[in-house]
Amino acid sequence: MTARTPDTATLTPWVGDAVTAPSMHNAQPWSFHYERATGVLALRTDPTRAMPHTDSSTRGACLGCGAALFNLRVAASHAGWEARVEAPREGDAPEVLAVVTFTPAEERGDIADLYPAIRRRHTSRQPFRDEPVPEEILDGLRGAARAEGARLDFAGAWRVRELLEAVWDAEHAEQVSPAVRQEIARWTSGADDDAREGIPSYALGPRRYDGQAPVREFPGGRHPEGADAAVFESSPCLAVLGTRGDTAEDWLRAGQAMERVLLRATADGLSTSLNSQALEWPDLRWLVRDPQSDAAYPQMLIRLGYGPDAPATPRRPVDEVLTVS
Ligand SMILES: Cc1cc2nc3c(=O)[nH]c(=O)nc-3n(C[C@H](O)[C@H](O)[C@H](O)COP(=O)(O)O)c2cc1C
Repeated sequence: MTARTPDTATLTPWVGDAVTAPSMHNAQPWSFHYERATGVLALRTDPTRAMPHTDSSTRGACLGCGAALFNLRVAASHAGWEARVEAPREGDAPEVLAVVTFTPAEERGDIADLYPAIRRRHTSRQPFRDEPVPEEILDGLRGAARAEGARLDFAGAWRVRELLEAVWDAEHAEQVSPAVRQEIARWTSGADDDAREGIPSYALGPRRYDGQAPVREFPGGRHPEGADAAVFESSPCLAVLGTRGDTAEDWLRAGQAMERVLLRATADGLSTSLNSQALEWPDLRWLVRDPQSDAAYPQMLIRLGYGPDAPATPRRPVDEVLTVS
């Protein structure tokens, strides 16, 4: 008896859900190939979307691919399939990060409930209300990271200050590096509101009133004409997502953990944003590391809180990112 595998019509919408994942500057650094005969879906990084100055290790690209992989797992689970993720096979191209096979699930997976959050999650660069997130919700988010083999550490007031200072140091380093500014500008200043990639001006959020905020100010990013400046929350709720190792496998794991945390947070009514600025500079990334945490490698700064709904950003259509043979 041959194992049942999903047909292309079944699998294509899962890839559609996968690509709503967050990615660095919305570069969407992924592609998928489905081999119908074997039922194997390969997830690859797309080297044409690489950022050699701000992501020379491809860590950020792997995080985005990991987030897409988590969405794919949630979508498959919601449709009654179990996704099994494995390391690339011998002979796979170096761009292949993981291969996924699917079997009909005997029972509903525990991640299926996150499905509605996939399309509700958007990065919010708006100020959040000064309203604390209840401890039970924070605990659930820690659990979401743990379930994917990562760790989420919420920062106390003193550490928030330290993290934001590392972010502002990174901002300064960006400002004085024309190569970095140019790389970021590729994904921001050119992104008009009809684009299918990059960060459109409507998603950049307001300008900062007092010059400092817990969200990224993109050099070259065009804020909407006439947008007012805003004051951001005085005590942001910030967490560092970390892993024990720092290999491509750890980055893919971190990406899945990041998306699990973001979807859990969205389901819990929270707004979220990401910040990788300080992690893009090796010396600053070292400063972000918490020596007390057993997750030695910081992978992402996540900001959470209560705020207005954020808009969806564009994506390339599925037929551009999925090939089938
Ligand atoms: C690895 C990675 C790094 C990111 N870094 C930042 C950042 O430093 N600042 C920021 O505002 N958003 C950051 N983001 C969020 C992306 O800009 C966002 O996911 C993308 O523009 C798509 O928008 P969406 O999340 O609303 O779907 C990052 C996302 C990923 C996966």
